[in-house]
Amino acid sequence: MLNVMVIGKGGREHALAWRLKQSPRAGAVYCAPGNAGTARDGVTNVAIEHTETDKLQRFCLKEKIGLVVIGPEDPLAAGLADFLRGRGLKVFGPSKDASRIEASKVFAKELMRHADVPTSEFQVFDHPQPARDYIETRDYPVVVKADGLAAGKGVVVCKTNAEAAAAVNRIMTDAEFGQKAGRRVVVEKRLDGEEVSVLALVSGRTFLPLPACQDHKAVGDGDTGPNTGGMGAYCPAPVATPELMKEWERTVFFPTIHAMKRGRYPFQGVLFAGLMLTNQGTRVLEFNCRFGDPETQVLIMRLKTDLLDLLEAVADERLQEFENIEWDTRPAVCVVLCSGGYPGKYDTGKPITGIADAERLPGVKVFHAGTKIDELNRIASDGGRVLGVTALGATLADAKARAYEAVKLINFVGMHYRTDIADKALKVKPVLAPAAAPKLPAKFRRPGGDKKPAT
Ligand code: GLY
Repeated sequence: MLNVMVIGKGGREHALAWRLKQSPRAGAVYCAPGNAGTARDGVTNVAIEHTETDKLQRFCLKEKIGLVVIGPEDPLAAGLADFLRGRGLKVFGPSKDASRIEASKVFAKELMRHADVPTSEFQVFDHPQPARDYIETRDYPVVVKADGLAAGKGVVVCKTNAEAAAAVNRIMTDAEFGQKAGRRVVVEKRLDGEEVSVLALVSGRTFLPLPACQDHKAVGDGDTGPNTGGMGAYCPAPVATPELMKEWERTVFFPTIHAMKRGRYPFQGVLFAGLMLTNQGTRVLEFNCRFGDPETQVLIMRLKTDLLDLLEAVADERLQEFENIEWDTRPAVCVVLCSGGYPGKYDTGKPITGIADAERLPGVKVFHAGTKIDELNRIASDGGRVLGVTALGATLADAKARAYEAVKLINFVGMHYRTDIADKALKVKPVLAPAAAPKLPAKFRRPGGDKKPAT
C-alpha cells in the first residue's frame, strides 16, 4: 500500500485525490490543504500551504508518503518538486527548470522556435518602448503576454494597436501582474480558430497523450465576457480526430519533449498543450506544466486505468510499461458553478445545498474547488470557482443533459454558470486535414502505434 499526498485545493486536486483513493494500492491519501470535497471523500486534509516547504516535507516523511502529486503551477515553478525529491520523496511533477515551459512565456516561445514547434510569430521585449514600436509596425492584431506567472491573467488579447500598447504599459510600466512577471513581454500575432487542450503524461523521452478536451474560458454563454480559469469542459473533443492527435504527437509533443531532454531539463509529469486550430493548421498557444482545470475533471471521470499506477510510473520513469491507457467510452461534461461576481471580486461563505442530490444521479460526480466546511458543519463557498458538476453520458448530448440536470439541484446565493458547455462540440464538425508529418524515430514511443516503447 502506498500513502499519497496531493498538493493543492482546486477541482483538479479533488478529482486526482478522489481517483487516487480508489486505487487498490492506495493507503492513506492526504491533500494539502484540500477542500470540503476532498474531506468528504475519504481523503485527509492537511492544513499546510505549499509555501510551507519544511512543514510539508516533515509531514510527508513522518507519514511515509510514497508519492507526492503536485497539482498547481505555482509550487512547481517555485521548485517544490526538486525540494521534495532532494529529501528522498517520490514526486509526480516537473522540476523548476522544466516548469519554465509554463512559468516563462519567453522560455516557452524560444523553446518552440528552437524545436520547430508550430506557434505564432513573436518577438520578446525587455523594455516597453521597443515593444510599442514593434506593435506599430504590425498589420495584424497581437497578443501581449507577461513573461511570468500571473494567475492566468497575464495574457492580453488585443483588437487594436492602441490596446496592445496599453497592454505593454499595464504589464511593464504599471506592473499590474507583478514586477517579476512583467519584466519581459512576448508580443505575438493573434490567431483565430478553435482551442483544444491536449495533455500527455511525460517521463524523460516517453510520453502518453490523453484524450483531447475543450475548455470554455469566457465567463458568459457564447464565449462572451472576461476570461476565467475555465467555466466547463468536455472530453473527448470531436474536433481532435485520431489523425490530428497523431499529428500533434509528431509536431508538438515529440519535438518539445526531445528538446527539453536535450537541454538537460527533462520533463516529468503532465505536459498540457493549449492548441489553436487555425485555417493554416495547428499552432501551440501555450504550454502548461500541470493538469488542466477543469480538463482534469472530465479526464478523471473517463479514466479506467489505475491513476496511482500511472502517476507512479511517471515518477519512476517506467511509463513505457503502459502500452495504452483505458478510458470509459462515454463522453464526460463538466459545468463549473461560480460565486457571484466571479471572475471579478466575488462573495464567499455562502452555504451550498443539493450536492448529495446531484450525486445521486447516475454517472454524476461533483468535484469541489473553492469550498470549505463552515462553523455550522455546512459546505460553503470559499473561492471564485466553487464546484465542477461532472457527468458521463452515452453521448456528449446525454452527458451535457445529465450535468445540467445535476446543476439544477444545487444552489447557493449568487451562483452562476454557463448554460452552453459542450454546445460547440455538438454543432461543429472537424474541418482540418492533418499535415503530412515526419516519421517518428523508433526509440520514441507512439502510444497505440506499432513501435516499441522507448526504454
Ligand atoms: N483550463 C485551463 C487551464 O487549466 O489552464
